[in-house]
Amino acid sequence: MTQAAGDGTGISPQIRILAGGEKRLLTDIGRIDPGSIASYTEHGGYAGVTRAVEQLGPEGVIDEIERARLRGRGGSGYPTADKWRAARATAADRKIVVANLMSSDPTALGERALAEGNPHLVLEGLILAAFATGASEAVIAVRRDWPLAIERLRTAVAEATAARLAGYLVLGTDFSVQVSVWEGSTSMVHGEETALIAALSGDRGMPVIRPPYPTERGLHGQPTVVQNGETLAHAAWILNHSAEAFTGAGSESSPGTKLVTVLGKVAEPGLVEVAMGTPLLGLLSEAGAMRGSTKALFVGGPGGGAVEAGSLDTVAYDFDTLAAVGATVGSGTVLVTDGATCMVATARFFLDVSAREACGKAVPCRIGTLRLVETLDRILAATPRPNDFTLLRELARKMSDTALCHLEARAPGPMLTTLEHFDDEYRAHAERGVCLAGACAPLDVMPLIGSDA
Ligand SMILES: Cc1cc2nc3c(=O)[nH]c(=O)nc-3n(C[C@H](O)[C@H](O)[C@H](O)COP(=O)(O)O)c2cc1C
Repeated sequence: MTQAAGDGTGISPQIRILAGGEKRLLTDIGRIDPGSIASYTEHGGYAGVTRAVEQLGPEGVIDEIERARLRGRGGSGYPTADKWRAARATAADRKIVVANLMSSDPTALGERALAEGNPHLVLEGLILAAFATGASEAVIAVRRDWPLAIERLRTAVAEATAARLAGYLVLGTDFSVQVSVWEGSTSMVHGEETALIAALSGDRGMPVIRPPYPTERGLHGQPTVVQNGETLAHAAWILNHSAEAFTGAGSESSPGTKLVTVLGKVAEPGLVEVAMGTPLLGLLSEAGAMRGSTKALFVGGPGGGAVEAGSLDTVAYDFDTLAAVGATVGSGTVLVTDGATCMVATARFFLDVSAREACGKAVPCRIGTLRLVETLDRILAATPRPNDFTLLRELARKMSDTALCHLEARAPGPMLTTLEHFDDEYRAHAERGVCLAGACAPLDVMPLIGSDA
């Protein structure tokens, strides 16, 4: 085995994989040697690439992904097969696929666990994406503060190339794909696909207006598919196990599983894989995080939203249900709060992250996030202006109407959902200077990030 974390999983110690859940992508972490392609193939790996190039052909691969109804795990849930088909249909001599492992929310553990614990699974998905779309270049874009992930991915690329599973004339066919690993910045906006494409091409990493979509004109002006690292791992899993096996878990509109990071007021924060469509209460129970005192869950990171405890048995963890209640799959994090957590301070914490991470290109985002933070500060200091509550809602609406990217559109989410469900906490702060939770400090999420993160 390569360097082990001490718990036998071979991944960084701050990535705790919780015992419960439905393990698919996580199942081989700790069982295989992440630094050995032989170990991956012994566990069935690269059967998907072999089947793709020797039997299915590009259309057959896309058909299989379509039958699985795989939706992108990078937050928006866009159908993966549609993206691959669009890129395939675009005529060009040069096409590119990008694995997005920028993990713009540093508290999210899913992609890092995959990259460190089973890098060939992500790479196999990327090779499949290249084959299906007709791409001859593939880039793995990964946060530069994940040294072990970078090392494992580089080793995996070298091993797969030596084994003729990547590189020139894959498995003796006429399909070739050159794979490289690119170390990106830790800025949140660099995870947004058009900003990532800009950064990859050497420009400042800022989003651009779509259309044209990257599948038409992306990196170096060529058709480009940007796919989240977990999505690619699922694609490899599907080609290795079948679309029918994939849809055996999950809901009708969101089949399969999802890696979810549970943190906050829980006994043990960590990573759990759950079937999509699991009610939030069930998700907490799978993660061993059930507590009578839970007040609300902040689902989706800085662009997510709060779901109050009373709805946890009816709100399912899937793209559409979460969107309907003002939350989102987003970064794949679920932050648990309890009675001692101030909802206003927590909303302010998330808004402050968005304000700091805004790239500055869109003025309503750069200024809007700051004005929202200032307004919350007035409320927290019991010095509100008469129209502050109207201002919060108006500004949020304008930001979502004018958004250049989803950072701006979604930044007000934690504030809007807490305003909806915990109006009493806002009013108590504004009108009486009282914190109903007893303390205005936001949750301390830093322990999960770890010192070497
Ligand atoms: C501010 C912002 C940050 C994002 N960060 C990430 C990220 O870290 N990783 C990721 O895969 N997608 C991220 N996305 C979504 C990407 O733009 C894109 O939708 C995704 O990579 C597509 O992959 P998927 O279809 O597999 O989900 C982000 C979007 C926004 C607006």
